[in-house]
Amino acid sequence: MPTTDPALNSAQAKSCQPCSGPHQVHELLRANEELKILNAKLSATQDKLVQSEKLASIGQLAAGVAHEINNPIGYIFSNFGTLERYLVHLFQMLSAYEEAERHLSDTPQGLQLKKLREQIELDYLKEDIPNLMQESREGISRVRKIVSDLKDFSRVGASQEWVWANLHRGIESTLNIVNNEIKYKADVAKVFGDIPDVQCLPSEINQVIMNLLINATHAITAERGTITIRTGRTGEGDSEQVWIEVEDNGCGIAKEHISKVFDPFFTTKPVGKGTGLGLSLSYGIVQKHNGHIDVRSEPGQGTCFRISLPVRHHSTEAQE
Ligand SMILES: Nc1ncnc2c1ncn2[C@@H]1O[C@H](COP(=O)(O)OP(=O)(O)O)[C@@H](O)[C@H]1O
Ligand SMILES: [Mg+2]
Repeated sequence: MPTTDPALNSAQAKSCQPCSGPHQVHELLRANEELKILNAKLSATQDKLVQSEKLASIGQLAAGVAHEINNPIGYIFSNFGTLERYLVHLFQMLSAYEEAERHLSDTPQGLQLKKLREQIELDYLKEDIPNLMQESREGISRVRKIVSDLKDFSRVGASQEWVWANLHRGIESTLNIVNNEIKYKADVAKVFGDIPDVQCLPSEINQVIMNLLINATHAITAERGTITIRTGRTGEGDSEQVWIEVEDNGCGIAKEHISKVFDPFFTTKPVGKGTGLGLSLSYGIVQKHNGHIDVRSEPGQGTCFRISLPVRHHSTEAQE
């Protein structure tokens, strides 16, 4: 066997000899460190690529699905509104008939109406129909919300205007919109730094902030929690960045879930409460801005999402 060949072994020993000096060992260790760093970079890049690839393919799928569903759900929603109005009129009419029925109580028509009323359980129907309508309305609204998320996610019809925007103003208006969701669950603390205007797609950045705020609210399981919004700036000149943090003291994210939170359709929420699209949508938006979105979380303690955006937008061919 080659390994037991003494000649070979001695040749190997000889050929390795130059490496064993302290200088060479040092060189080797250094090279090894470099390799480790490169390897880590490579693996991070690969993760990003996988994420972009997933986003791209799911985006195409989402665009198709959203387009197909958007139209029918639009007229179902609109017809539903009309139907609700018609029902109000029908109920008014029914009450008038019931009033008139009293005057027919001893006639054959009166008896027939009474029998029919009992047969179809009219009183129960009158009670149940509004409940069914309400539930259906909620269902339709939910589907519309999903379709709209999907459309945003696939950027169908999104405005592509890059403008200089004041992010604090965006945060304030977003807070106003979601205030209804937040106010019963959390206090909001704002720790705003001195930040410049940012060249961005403001409605999309607002969407990201909204997703983070709603997630933070959902994460608060205690009686009441706190959501802290911080902003600040780093870097100089061309590499100047603005960051926004949304931190909550809610349930936190389990270790095994943290790498999945940006995946499309990953959700730990019950059906109806979560679509699993919020963060993947946000990831796509921040990526389009050449920014980063990071998360750190301590299960049971809370979670902090941080978005960093370059102040000036440099369009790249890939984005166009
Ligand atoms: N602030 C947060 N605290 C705890 N878990 C979070 C937080 N934000 C996101 N998550 C986790 O990430 C998952 C994905 O979030 P998201 O993409 O917004 O989808 P959804 O909110 O519809 O579930 C959530 O279901 C939840 O498990
Ligand atoms: Mg969400």
